[in-house]
Amino acid sequence: MRQIAPAVHVAEAPQRFMGLEVGTRMTVLALEGGLLVHSPIELDPETIAHLGEPRWVLAPNLLHHLYVGPWADAGMEAWAPSGLPEKRSDLSFAGVLDKPGSHPFGDEIELLPTRSFSLTHELVLLHKPSKTLLVSDLVYNFSASAPWTTRAAMRCLCGYPGCSTSLLERFGMNHEIAREELSIIANWDFDRIIMAHGEVLEVGGKQALRKAFKWLEPL
Ligand SMILES: [Fe+2]
Repeated sequence: MRQIAPAVHVAEAPQRFMGLEVGTRMTVLALEGGLLVHSPIELDPETIAHLGEPRWVLAPNLLHHLYVGPWADAGMEAWAPSGLPEKRSDLSFAGVLDKPGSHPFGDEIELLPTRSFSLTHELVLLHKPSKTLLVSDLVYNFSASAPWTTRAAMRCLCGYPGCSTSLLERFGMNHEIAREELSIIANWDFDRIIMAHGEVLEVGGKQALRKAFKWLEPL
């Protein structure tokens, strides 16, 4: 685990998606009510025991659910976006997060369940104390350290370099709904963005998000 900010730790692991090495990142937030594991990777749950009391594990969208099972088996409450319990009927979820602002994680978290991209139904989180926006696939941030095949493919998809969306979002999202969602997120107080794929963006997150969704303008 690597500490990013007070109460914010991350761990990364290799992950392939459609033949490309894109990596994946798990974030652990130490909240007043216990630890929230966001987008879990394949890791022994004991690894985070020194950070606090494990409480919740969140599958943040319809694609980031592969490693929820062992964390739930270790006693954490599993939460899901709309549609995931049907897709992963083998997992037992405590609930579905489908209403803005309604979640069990306490006042330190703002949560927006997005509806603009039916492939993901991403849950976007704000960790207020560290001014960190927590996303999975809403944006990527590949740098020159990514494998060249990943960089080349993402460049073709308009998803490289830097904090970007790809053509998948551009053509797959409902633009009108996405505009509403992005305007809500843009009003949140954050500077850092932690995403699942690519590098953590430490500063300038709000401007970078706006730039990544420039094709949606006017936001
Ligand atoms: Fe992803």
